[in-house]
Amino acid sequence: MRLRPSVPLLLATLLLPAAALAQSTPAFTPPTPAQIRTAATPATDLTWYNHAVIYEIYPRSFQDTNGDGIGDLNGITERLPYLQALGVDAIWIAPMYPSPQVDFGYDISDYTAVDLQYGTLADFDRLLAAARDRHLRVLLDMVLNHTSDRHPWFLDSASSRTNPHADWYCWSDGVSPNSPNVTDYQKRFTVQSDRGPVVPPNNWESLFGGSAWQWVPARQQFYYHKFYRQQPDLNWRNPAVEKAMFDAMRFWLDRGVAGFRLDAITTLFEDPQLRNEPVAAPGLNAQGDPILSDIYTDNLPEVHGVLRRMRAMTDAYPAGAYPNARVLIGETYLPNTAALLPWYGTPAQPELQLPMDMFVGFHPEGGVPGPNVNLSLAHFRQSLSDMETQLDGHQPLLVFDNHDNPRSWDRFGDGETPDNKLRIAKLIATILYTTRSTALTYYGAELGMTTHTPTRKEDVRDPIGITGWPAEKGRDGERTPMQWSPLPPSASFSSNAHPWLPIGSDYPTVNVQTETGQPDTLLTWTHDLIDLRRGYPALHDGGIVMLDTANPSVLSYVRKGPDGSAILVSLNFTDQPQTVHLDLAAAGVGNHYTWVHMDANAQFGPLYTLSPLTLPPYAALITGVK
Ligand code: NOJ
Repeated sequence: MRLRPSVPLLLATLLLPAAALAQSTPAFTPPTPAQIRTAATPATDLTWYNHAVIYEIYPRSFQDTNGDGIGDLNGITERLPYLQALGVDAIWIAPMYPSPQVDFGYDISDYTAVDLQYGTLADFDRLLAAARDRHLRVLLDMVLNHTSDRHPWFLDSASSRTNPHADWYCWSDGVSPNSPNVTDYQKRFTVQSDRGPVVPPNNWESLFGGSAWQWVPARQQFYYHKFYRQQPDLNWRNPAVEKAMFDAMRFWLDRGVAGFRLDAITTLFEDPQLRNEPVAAPGLNAQGDPILSDIYTDNLPEVHGVLRRMRAMTDAYPAGAYPNARVLIGETYLPNTAALLPWYGTPAQPELQLPMDMFVGFHPEGGVPGPNVNLSLAHFRQSLSDMETQLDGHQPLLVFDNHDNPRSWDRFGDGETPDNKLRIAKLIATILYTTRSTALTYYGAELGMTTHTPTRKEDVRDPIGITGWPAEKGRDGERTPMQWSPLPPSASFSSNAHPWLPIGSDYPTVNVQTETGQPDTLLTWTHDLIDLRRGYPALHDGGIVMLDTANPSVLSYVRKGPDGSAILVSLNFTDQPQTVHLDLAAAGVGNHYTWVHMDANAQFGPLYTLSPLTLPPYAALITGVK
């Protein structure tokens, strides 16, 4: 692991104002390599997930070792040293199970095997063992809401109304087009049945476009699919489904995985009365469908019973390398922070350890009108405060990047100069790694990889982009291969000159090799942040106090460690220098800094004081305070 424990001390010396230099330097104890390694050693840490850095790997795009242009498990194994050196605690691998790959793995046809494109079960076991040797945990993606339409359960279910899996999916006869309450939208999907014309039973839409109901002549029924029609929803009201899925999870837990990211977990249940969703807004969405609310297909209370039973199963897991440390992470897109609370469950009946807070990182536009409308200090301050006040002390999980959204580099740096984009990316990384939260990142975010959205429909691979073009161009842009080096043809991702998605055109400068060890890169900044987070109790385990909360330009907060240590973080969200007068006493800490870590020079008060403090444009400052 690359360690630079002396960097903060060095910077403190370089950045000290002249008056301060005349004084003796305040005591500063940087984290020692031993301290950082101890913090990173997970096997004995039963709440490792509370301060972990989790790194999402999209296996198609991380590292190809057999030259087919598609990433594989052996590629992940090969790159574990990089992940360990970065300071990652756990990797989450997006689905690598057998799949027709309609939704690139989120359409699973066998839950207890590995897709040949990615390798074999033996490769997986080798990956797991190699990860364990490096103190890295492996988390898998578990897709519980739906299977592939090629899964044997569905093939059986769709074949008749009487087979053993007949009731494993959500089937409906549909209704006559002349029934009351049938909408014009439903009528668009009229089919000829043995009983005459029928339409889907209600107005429910697929998130990926069109009706959520698909007709199957063999059963003379429709089945429900929240996502693509090749992803039929399982019927979670059937206990056999729960048992089969829990068995699949045990298969991987028995091998030693440290837990799961639960895909689309809020959508397991639907309204049994199949009521029409209300219209949420006038007009049509990007797929050309009416804009509906999802009160009858999302966030139904029944899901919590499943999660309680699932948590009881994972908590009871004594076997494996990491006793009692299996974690359940939820993909929980919810309207606000408070809505996350039920997903943690209660002390007597816990559910998820880490429902994702998507609200902080993927909020709708709401910033200052201007080019980078997404970079809203007010939003960050409010939502970070809400995490403290509305989650009953539960551990938040912050996410700014994943395989479903344009990369944060582009969203938050939209319309800015290249220099400012880099500074803004450092601000975002600082929020991710220095607030009181578990940090979830996505391959390439640490490099500042950018979104490369296809410009021609014929190049699109993601079916959402094919059906939604041009309003919706799909998610290929955020899934381009990892940029390891400046070497053509494929940035060391693959020996194949034509990988499954083209390499981002900025790979000659944005790549691991070029950025490693360089002073101003996002990779170095991320490395440093993770080192600090591991080495300092205030960042590792401390509480958070917001400061100067009316300031429209600078976000400031103090992290206070269980050992009484404290760290101030101050982030300038504007392209102008900003002077702040922080009331550190209000946070119960002193007004002097003991060390400084930042990406641009700041001006401090006399004698190491932090008030006033002048921050350059878009500067991120981290200091020890006393
Ligand atoms: C959420 C996943 O992140 C996304 O990629 C997928 O298309 C849907 N769930 C359906 O599984």
